[in-house]
Amino acid sequence: MKKYLINTSGCQANELDSEKISWVLDTIGYEPTEDKEQADIILFNTCAVRKSAEDKVFGQLGELKELKRRKPNVVLGICGCMMQREDIREFFLSKHKHIDLVFGTNNIHKLPQLISRQLETGQTIIDIVEDTREIDESIDAHRKYSYKAYVDIMYGCDNYCTYCIVPYTRGRERSREPKVILDEVKKLVQSGVKEVTLLGQNVNSYGRTLSVDYSFPDLLREINEIDGIQRIRFMTSHPKDFTHELIKAYMDLDKLSPHLHLPVQSGSNRMLKLMNRKYTRDEYLEKIKTIKNLVPNIAITTDIIVGFPGETEQDFQETLDLVKEVEFDLAYTFLYSIREGTTAAKMEKQVPDKIKHERFQRLLDTLNPIGLKLNQKLLGTVQKVLVEAVSKNDNEVMSGRTGSAKLVHFKGGEELIGKIVSVRIDNVKTFTLEGIMID
Ligand code: SAH
Ligand code: SF4
Ligand code: F3S
Repeated sequence: MKKYLINTSGCQANELDSEKISWVLDTIGYEPTEDKEQADIILFNTCAVRKSAEDKVFGQLGELKELKRRKPNVVLGICGCMMQREDIREFFLSKHKHIDLVFGTNNIHKLPQLISRQLETGQTIIDIVEDTREIDESIDAHRKYSYKAYVDIMYGCDNYCTYCIVPYTRGRERSREPKVILDEVKKLVQSGVKEVTLLGQNVNSYGRTLSVDYSFPDLLREINEIDGIQRIRFMTSHPKDFTHELIKAYMDLDKLSPHLHLPVQSGSNRMLKLMNRKYTRDEYLEKIKTIKNLVPNIAITTDIIVGFPGETEQDFQETLDLVKEVEFDLAYTFLYSIREGTTAAKMEKQVPDKIKHERFQRLLDTLNPIGLKLNQKLLGTVQKVLVEAVSKNDNEVMSGRTGSAKLVHFKGGEELIGKIVSVRIDNVKTFTLEGIMID
């Protein structure tokens, strides 16, 4: 049997796309391998959100030149978000002549036909589709895990935050039909999946492109009714479209995990406006206050960008103040990275690297003690943990996640993977909880 290897970078949308690519390759008789020496096809599923992701793939592709020389029949492909951008695509193709196949995020279903064309002609095959309406709904995914799964509820993004390349890579926003999503979740549950994570760049605007009046909370309510599903998660929620109806869903739906990822990006109104985020600091804080009051056990996580063009010390202080006021359980922090083609790339007053790094460190020094303090409140509590894997450092230690998405380590065996167990927390760190399984 022929073998394939997929190297995936980027967000959950790309992880799910790689599972779809695997499924398509399975249907034409390929099987997966982890070893590039064994592979007949090597694919890079790429992310364009920051320059660092681009540089990494560029280097990895360079390293494969030698393998391609030794084994000229190996098909070397590159796909995903980077390839949706003509400038990046041209740059890669001009520097790496050994690329055989290029496709994008919206034409995964065409892969069998693209591979046969490549094998027949020996030419570099390039096929990019920009329109998200062309995404083929009939393809399935070869799931990496048996007990949890990602489900796309919408494609693309229309928000055009000025720093972000995603609207230019993933195309126009399009919601999937509720019935298609519900059928997919039911099928996953029948195959043993306990937790689904619903994916969209802005799940709160789900339904906008549907012909019927149907919202994201409507979808959550219907999924909550499905027998056998135990946990529902979603990513990502945009503060501008975050409604009281969604808060109500947290209060009403027993399977909706008490975790909200609500990217704030900055605590300064001036920055938020320049970023085109369409909410103010006060509006964000008000929404957080309301949900914390109504859903007291909720964990709140966020994304923050440091060093957006024009960010002054005062703007940054406002971010630090907001972090202290909200008390995030966890934040994903990013150094602003210039993305050609976005509005912010052309803005004046780019912040020097040295200042960005210095602010970044101060941000971590503010976030980490808060994360630890919030975890300390969980000492002595019993948490329901979905067991995910054997710990990398100790094969008697298992790792899993609470409903609030916190990572937990406890002693146990491999047979627990995929089960939901109760763990009493007896030690905590900044990013992890430790405990003893009690049933
Ligand atoms: N749709 C999601 C996020 C997708 S990108 C949302 O709106 O939340 C994930 C995160 O990457 C963003 O939240 C942002 O914090 C960060 N990001 C995006 N573009 C960036 C850039 N040019 N430089 C640094 N970080 C960036
Ligand atoms: Fe990027 Fe903004 Fe869309 Fe998120 S909502 S993907 S940050 S443009
Ligand atoms: Fe990256 Fe594309 Fe996701 S640019 S963050 S993989 S949508």
